[in-house]
Amino acid sequence: MYAVEVIGLSHFYPDGTQALKDVNLTVQEGTKIAILGPNGSGKSTLFYHLNGLFLPQNGKVIIKGEEITKKNIDWVRRCVGLVFQDSDDQLFAPTVYDDIAFGPRNLGLPEHEVEKRVKNALEMFGIKEYEKRNPDNLSGGEKKKAAVAGVLVMEPNVLVFDEPTAGLDPSSTVDIIEIMDELNTEGKSIIISTHDVDMASTWADEIYLLKKGEVYSSGKPEEIFGNMKALRQTKLTFPTIIKTHREFEAHNIYEKREHLPFSILDLVDNINAKADENGGSIWVAAIPGMKQGGVGAVEPDKLKKVFDINPDRIGAMGTSAKASVRMLGIHCDFESDIVNSSLSEAVMGKTVIILASGNMADLVIEKVNQNNEQNNRKIRCEKLHWDL
Ligand SMILES: Nc1ncnc2c1ncn2[C@@H]1O[C@H](COP(=O)(O)OP(=O)(O)OP(=O)(O)O)[C@@H](O)[C@H]1O
Ligand SMILES: [Mg+2]
Repeated sequence: MYAVEVIGLSHFYPDGTQALKDVNLTVQEGTKIAILGPNGSGKSTLFYHLNGLFLPQNGKVIIKGEEITKKNIDWVRRCVGLVFQDSDDQLFAPTVYDDIAFGPRNLGLPEHEVEKRVKNALEMFGIKEYEKRNPDNLSGGEKKKAAVAGVLVMEPNVLVFDEPTAGLDPSSTVDIIEIMDELNTEGKSIIISTHDVDMASTWADEIYLLKKGEVYSSGKPEEIFGNMKALRQTKLTFPTIIKTHREFEAHNIYEKREHLPFSILDLVDNINAKADENGGSIWVAAIPGMKQGGVGAVEPDKLKKVFDINPDRIGAMGTSAKASVRMLGIHCDFESDIVNSSLSEAVMGKTVIILASGNMADLVIEKVNQNNEQNNRKIRCEKLHWDL
Protein backbone atom coordinates (compact mmCIF):
# COMPACT_ATOMS: atom_id res chain seq x y z
CA MET A 1 0.00 0.00 0.00
CA TYR A 2 1.18 3.51 -0.81
CA ALA A 3 1.30 6.27 1.78
CA VAL A 4 -0.07 8.63 -0.87
CA GLU A 5 -1.42 7.97 -4.31
CA VAL A 6 -2.61 10.70 -6.66
CA ILE A 7 -4.41 9.52 -9.77
CA GLY A 8 -5.36 11.71 -12.72
CA LEU A 9 -5.69 14.85 -10.62
CA SER A 10 -6.70 18.06 -12.38
CA HIS A 11 -7.63 21.40 -10.88
CA PHE A 12 -9.15 24.61 -12.23
CA TYR A 13 -9.30 27.78 -10.14
CA PRO A 14 -12.57 29.76 -10.30
CA ASP A 15 -11.08 32.25 -12.82
CA GLY A 16 -10.50 29.35 -15.23
CA THR A 17 -6.75 28.91 -14.62
CA GLN A 18 -5.81 25.26 -14.93
CA ALA A 19 -3.25 24.65 -12.18
CA LEU A 20 -3.03 20.83 -12.42
CA LYS A 21 -3.41 18.54 -15.43
CA ASP A 22 -3.80 14.82 -14.96
CA VAL A 23 -1.19 14.54 -12.23
CA ASN A 24 -0.13 11.07 -11.09
CA LEU A 25 2.09 10.58 -8.06
CA THR A 26 2.87 7.64 -5.81
CA VAL A 27 4.66 7.79 -2.50
CA GLN A 28 5.90 4.56 -0.97
CA GLU A 29 5.62 4.33 2.81
CA GLY A 30 8.64 5.82 4.54
CA THR A 31 10.15 7.54 1.51
CA LYS A 32 11.32 11.10 0.89
CA ILE A 33 9.91 12.85 -2.18
CA ALA A 34 10.89 16.25 -3.55
CA ILE A 35 8.69 18.11 -6.01
CA LEU A 36 10.61 20.55 -8.19
CA GLY A 37 9.16 23.00 -10.64
CA PRO A 38 9.26 26.68 -11.53
CA ASN A 39 6.96 29.30 -10.00
CA GLY A 40 3.36 28.66 -10.91
CA SER A 41 3.92 25.02 -11.92
CA GLY A 42 1.28 23.76 -9.47
CA LYS A 43 3.27 22.56 -6.45
CA SER A 44 1.19 24.34 -3.82
CA THR A 45 -2.07 23.47 -5.57
CA LEU A 46 -1.04 19.80 -5.54
CA PHE A 47 -0.19 19.99 -1.84
CA TYR A 48 -3.59 21.52 -0.95
CA HIS A 49 -5.08 18.29 -2.27
CA LEU A 50 -2.92 16.01 -0.14
CA ASN A 51 -4.58 16.84 3.16
CA GLY A 52 -8.03 17.47 1.77
CA LEU A 53 -7.92 21.26 1.85
CA PHE A 54 -8.97 20.98 -1.81
CA LEU A 55 -11.11 18.03 -2.83
CA PRO A 56 -10.43 16.70 -6.35
CA GLN A 57 -12.53 18.15 -9.15
CA ASN A 58 -11.16 15.39 -11.36
CA GLY A 59 -9.18 12.34 -10.29
CA LYS A 60 -8.46 10.88 -6.88
CA VAL A 61 -6.18 11.33 -3.91
CA ILE A 62 -5.71 8.18 -1.84
CA ILE A 63 -4.08 8.18 1.59
CA LYS A 64 -3.04 4.79 2.93
CA GLY A 65 -5.54 3.06 0.70
CA GLU A 66 -8.47 5.37 1.52
CA GLU A 67 -9.72 7.83 -1.04
CA ILE A 68 -10.10 11.35 0.40
CA THR A 69 -13.75 12.37 0.58
CA LYS A 70 -15.75 14.84 2.67
CA LYS A 71 -16.53 11.99 5.07
CA ASN A 72 -13.00 11.05 6.11
CA ILE A 73 -11.54 14.54 6.12
CA ASP A 74 -10.86 14.61 9.88
CA TRP A 75 -8.89 11.38 9.67
CA VAL A 76 -7.01 12.68 6.62
CA ARG A 77 -5.98 15.85 8.46
CA ARG A 78 -4.60 13.80 11.38
CA CYS A 79 -2.78 11.50 9.01
CA VAL A 80 -1.29 14.12 6.67
CA GLY A 81 0.34 17.22 8.10
CA LEU A 82 0.69 20.16 5.69
CA VAL A 83 3.09 23.02 6.31
CA PHE A 84 2.07 25.96 4.13
CA GLN A 85 4.48 27.84 1.90
CA ASP A 86 3.53 31.09 3.62
CA SER A 87 3.71 30.76 7.41
CA ASP A 88 1.21 33.60 7.82
CA ASP A 89 -1.42 31.24 6.40
CA GLN A 90 -0.67 28.81 9.21
CA LEU A 91 -0.11 30.88 12.34
CA PHE A 92 -3.03 32.61 13.99
CA ALA A 93 -2.95 32.18 17.81
CA PRO A 94 -1.84 35.04 20.10
CA THR A 95 1.31 33.24 21.24
CA VAL A 96 3.70 30.72 19.67
CA TYR A 97 2.91 28.29 22.49
CA ASP A 98 -0.86 28.48 21.87
CA ASP A 99 -0.32 28.14 18.17
CA ILE A 100 1.66 24.93 18.51
CA ALA A 101 -0.74 23.66 21.18
CA PHE A 102 -3.83 24.35 19.04
CA GLY A 103 -3.79 21.08 17.10
CA PRO A 104 -3.17 18.72 20.03
CA ARG A 105 -5.81 20.56 22.13
CA ASN A 106 -8.23 20.22 19.25
CA LEU A 107 -7.59 16.48 19.23
CA GLY A 108 -8.84 16.52 22.84
CA LEU A 109 -5.50 15.42 24.30
CA PRO A 110 -5.09 15.99 28.07
CA GLU A 111 -3.26 19.24 28.89
CA HIS A 112 -0.18 17.46 30.33
CA GLU A 113 0.23 15.58 27.03
CA VAL A 114 -0.27 18.81 25.07
CA GLU A 115 2.39 20.50 27.21
CA LYS A 116 4.82 17.62 26.74
CA ARG A 117 4.46 17.70 22.97
CA VAL A 118 4.70 21.48 22.71
CA LYS A 119 7.78 21.72 24.97
CA ASN A 120 9.45 18.95 23.00
CA ALA A 121 8.74 20.74 19.72
CA LEU A 122 9.96 24.10 21.05
CA GLU A 123 13.16 22.37 22.15
CA MET A 124 13.62 20.56 18.84
CA PHE A 125 13.38 23.78 16.87
CA GLY A 126 15.36 25.89 19.30
CA ILE A 127 12.45 28.35 19.61
CA LYS A 128 11.81 27.97 23.32
CA GLU A 129 12.51 31.63 24.01
CA TYR A 130 9.71 32.67 21.66
CA GLU A 131 6.96 30.66 23.30
CA LYS A 132 5.19 33.68 24.76
CA ARG A 133 5.65 35.91 21.72
CA ASN A 134 3.05 36.81 19.16
CA PRO A 135 3.76 34.91 15.93
CA ASP A 136 2.97 38.07 13.93
CA ASN A 137 6.07 39.69 15.36
CA LEU A 138 8.54 36.92 14.51
CA SER A 139 10.97 37.01 11.58
CA GLY A 140 10.15 34.94 8.49
CA GLY A 141 12.50 32.12 9.49
CA GLU A 142 11.22 32.06 13.07
CA LYS A 143 7.65 31.91 11.80
CA LYS A 144 8.56 29.00 9.55
CA LYS A 145 9.96 27.03 12.48
CA ALA A 146 6.86 27.74 14.59
CA ALA A 147 4.62 26.64 11.68
CA VAL A 148 6.56 23.39 11.19
CA ALA A 149 6.49 22.74 14.96
CA GLY A 150 2.70 23.22 14.97
CA VAL A 151 2.30 20.46 12.40
CA LEU A 152 4.82 18.05 13.94
CA VAL A 153 3.08 18.02 17.34
CA MET A 154 0.11 16.38 15.64
CA GLU A 155 2.43 13.45 14.93
CA PRO A 156 1.09 12.90 11.41
CA ASN A 157 2.20 9.89 9.46
CA VAL A 158 2.74 11.74 6.20
CA LEU A 159 4.39 15.15 6.23
CA VAL A 160 3.97 17.61 3.41
CA PHE A 161 6.19 20.70 3.49
CA ASP A 162 5.69 23.44 0.91
CA GLU A 163 9.16 24.98 0.52
CA PRO A 164 10.31 24.21 4.07
CA THR A 165 13.73 25.84 3.75
CA ALA A 166 12.80 28.97 1.78
CA GLY A 167 14.00 32.03 3.65
CA LEU A 168 15.93 30.07 6.28
CA ASP A 169 19.59 30.71 7.07
CA PRO A 170 22.06 27.85 6.37
CA SER A 171 22.07 26.59 9.94
CA SER A 172 18.26 26.61 10.23
CA THR A 173 18.06 24.90 6.84
CA VAL A 174 20.28 22.11 8.14
CA ASP A 175 18.10 21.87 11.26
CA ILE A 176 14.90 21.47 9.24
CA ILE A 177 16.46 18.91 6.90
CA GLU A 178 17.69 16.93 9.87
CA ILE A 179 14.31 17.02 11.55
CA MET A 180 12.77 15.73 8.32
CA ASP A 181 15.39 12.96 8.20
CA GLU A 182 14.83 12.08 11.81
CA LEU A 183 11.07 11.80 11.22
CA ASN A 184 11.79 9.71 8.16
CA THR A 185 13.89 7.24 10.18
CA GLU A 186 10.80 6.87 12.39
CA GLY A 187 9.00 5.59 9.29
CA LYS A 188 7.16 8.74 8.24
CA SER A 189 6.77 9.61 4.57
CA ILE A 190 7.91 13.11 3.68
CA ILE A 191 6.94 15.16 0.64
CA ILE A 192 8.47 18.58 0.07
CA SER A 193 8.47 21.18 -2.66
CA THR A 194 11.65 23.17 -3.14
CA HIS A 195 13.66 25.29 -5.54
CA ASP A 196 16.88 24.09 -3.89
CA VAL A 197 18.21 21.54 -6.39
CA ASP A 198 21.40 20.96 -4.39
CA MET A 199 19.36 19.88 -1.40
CA ALA A 200 16.81 17.89 -3.39
CA SER A 201 19.51 15.96 -5.26
CA THR A 202 21.09 14.62 -2.08
CA TRP A 203 18.02 14.41 0.13
CA ALA A 204 15.24 12.88 -1.93
CA ASP A 205 14.63 9.21 -2.70
CA GLU A 206 12.51 10.28 -5.61
CA ILE A 207 12.01 13.54 -7.48
CA TYR A 208 9.02 14.78 -9.47
CA LEU A 209 9.43 17.61 -11.96
CA LEU A 210 6.32 19.70 -12.50
CA LYS A 211 5.86 21.94 -15.50
CA LYS A 212 2.72 23.99 -16.11
CA GLY A 213 0.63 21.75 -13.88
CA GLU A 214 1.86 18.48 -15.38
CA VAL A 215 4.35 15.89 -14.17
CA TYR A 216 7.12 16.36 -16.68
CA SER A 217 9.27 13.55 -15.35
CA SER A 218 9.91 11.58 -12.19
CA GLY A 219 12.54 9.24 -10.89
CA LYS A 220 15.57 8.84 -8.66
CA PRO A 221 17.92 11.86 -8.44
CA GLU A 222 20.42 10.09 -10.74
CA GLU A 223 17.72 9.70 -13.38
CA ILE A 224 16.41 13.25 -13.08
CA PHE A 225 19.77 15.01 -13.02
CA GLY A 226 21.21 12.66 -15.61
CA ASN A 227 18.62 13.93 -18.08
CA MET A 228 19.91 17.33 -19.15
CA LYS A 229 17.20 17.84 -21.74
CA ALA A 230 14.31 17.36 -19.30
CA LEU A 231 15.87 19.68 -16.78
CA ARG A 232 16.46 22.44 -19.31
CA GLN A 233 12.83 22.18 -20.42
CA THR A 234 11.66 22.84 -16.87
CA LYS A 235 13.99 25.82 -16.43
CA LEU A 236 15.67 24.18 -13.45
CA THR A 237 19.37 24.48 -12.86
CA PHE A 238 21.64 21.56 -12.13
CA PRO A 239 23.07 20.95 -8.67
CA THR A 240 26.45 22.69 -8.27
CA ILE A 241 28.30 19.38 -7.90
CA ILE A 242 26.85 18.06 -11.14
CA LYS A 243 27.67 21.30 -12.99
CA THR A 244 31.27 21.00 -11.75
CA HIS A 245 31.35 17.35 -12.79
CA ARG A 246 30.20 18.22 -16.32
CA GLU A 247 32.92 20.85 -16.57
CA PHE A 248 35.51 18.34 -15.36
CA GLU A 249 34.38 15.89 -18.03
CA ALA A 250 34.34 18.60 -20.72
CA HIS A 251 37.85 19.76 -19.80
CA ASN A 252 39.17 16.20 -19.62
CA ILE A 253 40.02 16.53 -15.95
CA TYR A 254 38.63 13.04 -15.88
CA GLU A 255 36.92 10.77 -18.36
CA LYS A 256 33.19 10.20 -18.61
CA ARG A 257 31.85 8.43 -15.52
CA GLU A 258 29.01 6.00 -15.21
CA HIS A 259 27.66 7.46 -11.95
CA LEU A 260 26.78 11.07 -11.27
CA PRO A 261 28.50 12.60 -8.25
CA PHE A 262 26.30 14.17 -5.57
CA SER A 263 28.93 15.24 -3.04
CA ILE A 264 32.37 16.85 -2.97
CA LEU A 265 33.73 13.50 -1.86
CA ASP A 266 32.26 11.88 -4.99
CA LEU A 267 33.99 14.51 -7.12
CA VAL A 268 37.31 13.96 -5.35
CA ASP A 269 36.88 10.22 -5.82
CA ASN A 270 36.38 10.81 -9.53
CA ILE A 271 39.67 12.67 -9.76
CA ASN A 272 41.58 10.46 -7.40
CA ALA A 273 40.15 7.08 -8.36
CA LYS A 274 42.48 4.97 -6.24
CA ALA A 275 40.99 3.73 -2.99
CA ASP A 276 42.42 5.79 -0.20
CA GLU A 277 43.12 3.82 2.91
CA ASN A 278 45.12 5.62 5.46
CA GLY A 279 43.65 3.78 8.39
CA GLY A 280 40.98 6.28 9.33
CA SER A 281 37.85 5.09 11.06
CA ILE A 282 34.36 6.24 11.91
CA TRP A 283 32.74 5.45 15.22
CA VAL A 284 29.04 6.00 15.65
CA ALA A 285 27.49 6.62 19.06
CA ALA A 286 23.72 6.25 19.24
CA ILE A 287 22.02 8.85 21.41
CA PRO A 288 18.38 8.18 22.39
CA GLY A 289 16.10 9.99 19.92
CA MET A 290 13.24 12.26 20.96
CA LYS A 291 10.88 9.31 21.01
CA GLN A 292 13.14 7.47 23.50
CA GLY A 293 13.35 10.40 25.88
CA GLY A 294 16.02 12.38 24.04
CA VAL A 295 19.19 13.58 25.61
CA GLY A 296 17.46 13.79 28.99
CA ALA A 297 17.62 9.99 29.07
CA VAL A 298 21.45 10.01 29.12
CA GLU A 299 23.69 10.60 32.10
CA PRO A 300 26.09 13.39 31.11
CA ASP A 301 29.05 11.58 32.69
CA LYS A 302 28.52 8.60 30.44
CA LEU A 303 28.66 10.81 27.37
CA LYS A 304 32.25 11.67 28.23
CA LYS A 305 33.13 8.21 26.99
CA VAL A 306 33.36 9.72 23.50
CA PHE A 307 36.76 11.02 24.52
CA ASP A 308 38.04 7.47 25.24
CA ILE A 309 38.60 6.85 21.56
CA ASN A 310 40.47 10.11 21.16
CA PRO A 311 38.69 11.36 18.04
CA ASP A 312 40.25 13.84 15.63
CA ARG A 313 36.84 15.02 14.52
CA ILE A 314 33.40 15.02 16.11
CA GLY A 315 30.09 15.20 14.26
CA ALA A 316 26.50 15.34 15.49
CA MET A 317 23.41 14.29 13.61
CA GLY A 318 19.88 14.82 14.84
CA THR A 319 18.37 16.98 17.55
CA SER A 320 19.22 14.93 20.64
CA ALA A 321 22.78 14.29 19.41
CA LYS A 322 23.30 18.02 18.93
CA ALA A 323 21.89 18.68 22.38
CA SER A 324 24.39 16.13 23.78
CA VAL A 325 27.27 17.94 22.16
CA ARG A 326 26.07 21.21 23.67
CA MET A 327 25.74 19.51 27.06
CA LEU A 328 29.32 18.28 26.89
CA GLY A 329 30.44 21.73 25.86
CA ILE A 330 32.56 20.26 23.09
CA HIS A 331 33.29 21.71 19.69
CA CYS A 332 31.46 19.92 16.92
CA ASP A 333 33.37 19.81 13.64
CA PHE A 334 30.37 19.06 11.47
CA GLU A 335 26.63 19.16 11.91
CA SER A 336 25.51 18.69 8.33
CA ASP A 337 26.24 16.32 5.47
CA ILE A 338 27.56 14.01 8.17
CA VAL A 339 28.28 10.88 6.15
CA ASN A 340 30.26 12.63 3.43
CA SER A 341 32.08 14.91 5.86
CA SER A 342 33.13 11.94 8.02
CA LEU A 343 34.25 9.91 5.03
CA SER A 344 36.32 12.83 3.72
CA GLU A 345 38.16 12.92 7.04
CA ALA A 346 38.47 9.15 7.37
CA VAL A 347 40.02 8.75 3.91
CA MET A 348 42.71 11.15 5.14
CA GLY A 349 43.41 8.90 8.10
CA LYS A 350 41.40 10.68 10.78
CA THR A 351 39.40 9.05 13.55
CA VAL A 352 35.89 10.43 13.54
CA ILE A 353 33.13 10.02 16.07
CA ILE A 354 29.55 10.73 15.12
CA LEU A 355 26.88 11.18 17.73
CA ALA A 356 23.63 10.23 16.04
CA SER A 357 20.09 10.42 17.36
CA GLY A 358 17.83 7.36 17.46
CA ASN A 359 17.72 5.28 14.35
CA MET A 360 20.06 7.60 12.51
CA ALA A 361 23.09 5.73 13.91
CA ASP A 362 22.28 2.62 11.89
CA LEU A 363 21.55 4.77 8.87
CA VAL A 364 25.04 6.32 9.04
CA ILE A 365 26.70 2.91 9.19
CA GLU A 366 24.60 1.69 6.28
CA LYS A 367 25.50 4.75 4.17
CA VAL A 368 29.22 4.53 4.94
CA ASN A 369 29.22 0.86 4.04
CA GLN A 370 27.36 1.58 0.81
CA ASN A 371 29.96 4.20 -0.04
CA ASN A 372 32.76 1.78 0.83
CA GLU A 373 31.29 -0.76 -1.53
CA GLN A 374 30.71 1.68 -4.39
CA ASN A 375 34.23 3.07 -4.18
CA ASN A 376 36.04 -0.08 -3.26
CA ARG A 377 37.10 1.42 0.04
CA LYS A 378 37.49 -0.15 3.42
CA ILE A 379 36.87 2.63 5.91
CA ARG A 380 36.08 1.04 9.24
CA CYS A 381 32.69 2.15 10.54
CA GLU A 382 31.30 0.73 13.74
CA LYS A 383 28.78 1.45 16.41
CA LEU A 384 30.31 2.47 19.68
CA HIS A 385 29.01 0.03 22.23
CA TRP A 386 28.32 1.90 25.36
CA ASP A 387 25.83 1.51 28.08
CA LEU A 388 23.96 4.82 28.21
N1 LIG B 1 -6.44 31.46 -6.19
C1 LIG B 1 -6.04 31.33 -7.44
N2 LIG B 1 -6.80 31.74 -8.45
C2 LIG B 1 -6.41 31.61 -9.74
N3 LIG B 1 -5.24 31.04 -10.10
C3 LIG B 1 -4.42 30.62 -9.13
C4 LIG B 1 -4.77 30.74 -7.75
N4 LIG B 1 -3.77 30.22 -7.02
C5 LIG B 1 -2.85 29.81 -7.88
N5 LIG B 1 -3.24 30.03 -9.16
C6 LIG B 1 -2.52 29.69 -10.40
O1 LIG B 1 -2.31 28.30 -10.42
C7 LIG B 1 -1.02 27.96 -10.95
C8 LIG B 1 -0.26 27.11 -9.94
O2 LIG B 1 -0.02 27.87 -8.78
P1 LIG B 1 0.74 27.25 -7.53
O3 LIG B 1 0.66 28.24 -6.45
O4 LIG B 1 0.20 25.90 -7.26
O5 LIG B 1 2.23 27.14 -8.10
P2 LIG B 1 3.59 26.79 -7.35
O6 LIG B 1 4.28 25.75 -8.16
O7 LIG B 1 3.32 26.49 -5.94
O8 LIG B 1 4.41 28.17 -7.48
P3 LIG B 1 5.51 28.83 -6.49
O9 LIG B 1 6.83 28.19 -6.80
O10 LIG B 1 5.50 30.27 -6.95
O11 LIG B 1 5.05 28.66 -5.10
C9 LIG B 1 -0.38 29.30 -11.28
O12 LIG B 1 -0.54 29.53 -12.65
C10 LIG B 1 -1.15 30.30 -10.47
O13 LIG B 1 -1.18 31.56 -11.10
MG1 LIG C 1 3.92 27.31 -4.17
